[in-house]
Amino acid sequence: MYNDLEKILFTEEQIQTRIKEIAAQIDKDYAGETPVVVGILKGCFMFFADLVRQMKTNIEIDFMSISSYGNNTKSSGEVKMIKDLDRTIEGRHVIIIEDIIDTGYTLKYLMTTLSARNPKSIKLCTLLDKKSRREVDISPDYVCFDVGDEFVVGYGLDYAQLYRNLPVIGVLKESVYKK
Ligand code: PRP
Repeated sequence: MYNDLEKILFTEEQIQTRIKEIAAQIDKDYAGETPVVVGILKGCFMFFADLVRQMKTNIEIDFMSISSYGNNTKSSGEVKMIKDLDRTIEGRHVIIIEDIIDTGYTLKYLMTTLSARNPKSIKLCTLLDKKSRREVDISPDYVCFDVGDEFVVGYGLDYAQLYRNLPVIGVLKESVYKK
């Protein structure tokens, strides 16, 4: 897997250090509350698990599955819900956990869909923010790292469903996806 990487952007240690900082910030912001932490599958799975285990706040967890990419490297703007939340979020503080915000279409769709269910608040937390590719007005409340317009994989992020289990975040070699 590592042979397919052009370079490593963030090591395991850098990721864990930053996650501890974000978890502390969330703990501070939600002191005394019990937010519902919503992971957006599948990309978030590693970040979600590492983040919540660093949080000291009481939380409930739930997951949604949304798809926008298919097997392509570019976002299509088309968003499809594959799995909804199991529980109601009415009157609850909600924190959405994403692995990456690219065009913003996925989060725009999620914000619209979840806001209609009358939560007390919704905040967005993302591992990576690829601001240069934004097409809709979405800004996350918590960001671990900003990334440029490069094809990033690892630590949950895939190319054609591969590389999600890499413990680091890296840039995929062009030769891998331009075959
Ligand atoms: C990725 C990522 C976000 C979305 C971001 O999901 O997890 O949900 O794309 O792109 P956008 O800002 O352009 O909408 P993907 O559809 O690849 O599914 P996955 O999480 O299963 O990898």
